[in-house]
Amino acid sequence: MEVTGGAASISAGDRLTFQRRHGIVGKSMEIREVVDTIMQVAPTDITVLVTGESGTGKEVIAKAIHQASRRSHRKFIPVNCGAIPEGILESELFGHEKGAFTGAVETRKGYFELADGGTIFLDEIGDTPISTQVKLLRVLESGEFMRVGSSEPRHVDVRIIAATNKNLEEEVRGKRFRQDLFFRLRSVNLRLPPLRNRRGDIPLLVELFLAQMDDAGRDIMITDDGMDALIRHSWPGNVRELRNVIESVTVLERGNVVDERVIAKYIHAMEEPLEDRALPVPLGKSSEQAERELIFRMLVELKSDIAELHRMLEDLGHQRPLSLPPREEESTDAAHLEDQTLRSMEETLIEHTLERFNGNRRLAAEALDISERTLYRKIKDYGL
Ligand SMILES: Nc1ncnc2c1ncn2[C@@H]1O[C@H](COP(=O)(O)OP(=O)(O)OP(=O)(O)O)[C@@H](O)[C@H]1O
Ligand SMILES: [Mg+2]
Repeated sequence: MEVTGGAASISAGDRLTFQRRHGIVGKSMEIREVVDTIMQVAPTDITVLVTGESGTGKEVIAKAIHQASRRSHRKFIPVNCGAIPEGILESELFGHEKGAFTGAVETRKGYFELADGGTIFLDEIGDTPISTQVKLLRVLESGEFMRVGSSEPRHVDVRIIAATNKNLEEEVRGKRFRQDLFFRLRSVNLRLPPLRNRRGDIPLLVELFLAQMDDAGRDIMITDDGMDALIRHSWPGNVRELRNVIESVTVLERGNVVDERVIAKYIHAMEEPLEDRALPVPLGKSSEQAERELIFRMLVELKSDIAELHRMLEDLGHQRPLSLPPREEESTDAAHLEDQTLRSMEETLIEHTLERFNGNRRLAAEALDISERTLYRKIKDYGL
């Protein structure tokens, strides 16, 4: 069955309430259809395949399906099948018995067992090695799997949502993806439109991202020609690219008025090839300046995290919550940073981010805007 259109029975009001609750912004026809389908399939246990270019909101949708399901009070476990090295993916997914392989010093549950009763989100499913695909098919069909090093079948009650930005039909033709698994996964295929096909949603998304940046303490005013420039752009990185541009403008621009010229500067900086840039900064800056600004951005984020912690602790009724340095020392003046190396800043930031996400490398990598592979490498590098 392929669910494509929305149900006529969903009222505009219900849809809007659903969108608000799950943070899905957009009023275009394309988004409305996607939302209608989610509202239909969420209460069921049906497997959903979410496809779309990078940054189109596949994870937002997957989370919304979980949140709107009867499983919402149980775990939502995201797994990036493309980032976990092939050799350990199976033991991460299905767990392993003590002694199953060198280094398996104790028995460990895999993601499927951890997600029991909840939802597992198999992200980048198109990058799963073919040897693991057959095991996924078995879980999909019967809920059964075996831990690595065990021959005892285990059973879980897990809803599966998968996502990919690859064309799975092509992967099947190229024999990189099993056809049976593909057919099983696409019971419901939600296709997310690229942002350039729903430009009407851009102003709403900009409004959302600006509101989310309020903590950074800036009142940004986007002029009409600035907004036009945002609408005209083709957004190859989709909603994520738009969010990055808005965040960079908010954090890095000195003035409050953001016009076409300012927007152009940031959009072009984003579109340099990745290896040519350490972060999205305007062109025409030295790499030293760019690094400074990267550190600024990180500090701003750290600062708002600390402020958030303060607020949380204060809410809990603590008067003097933490022995943190006095506010003045949280100044974003980069001068005192000069005796610190970028490496040590990076190490601290990675450590902090890992802590913030409870050691979840996927979420940490996402927050740091680096790939999970890169994060693995850095964790090893720094011996974290
Ligand atoms: N409809 C939407 N409303 C609000 N925010 C959105 C929407 N779609 C995407 N976003 C935001 O855009 C960013 C990227 O979304 P998400 O991570 O879900 O994309 P993705 O398709 O999983 O990307 P990738 O293929 O690179 O993993 C996130 O910050 C998300 O909050
Ligand atoms: Mg994603």
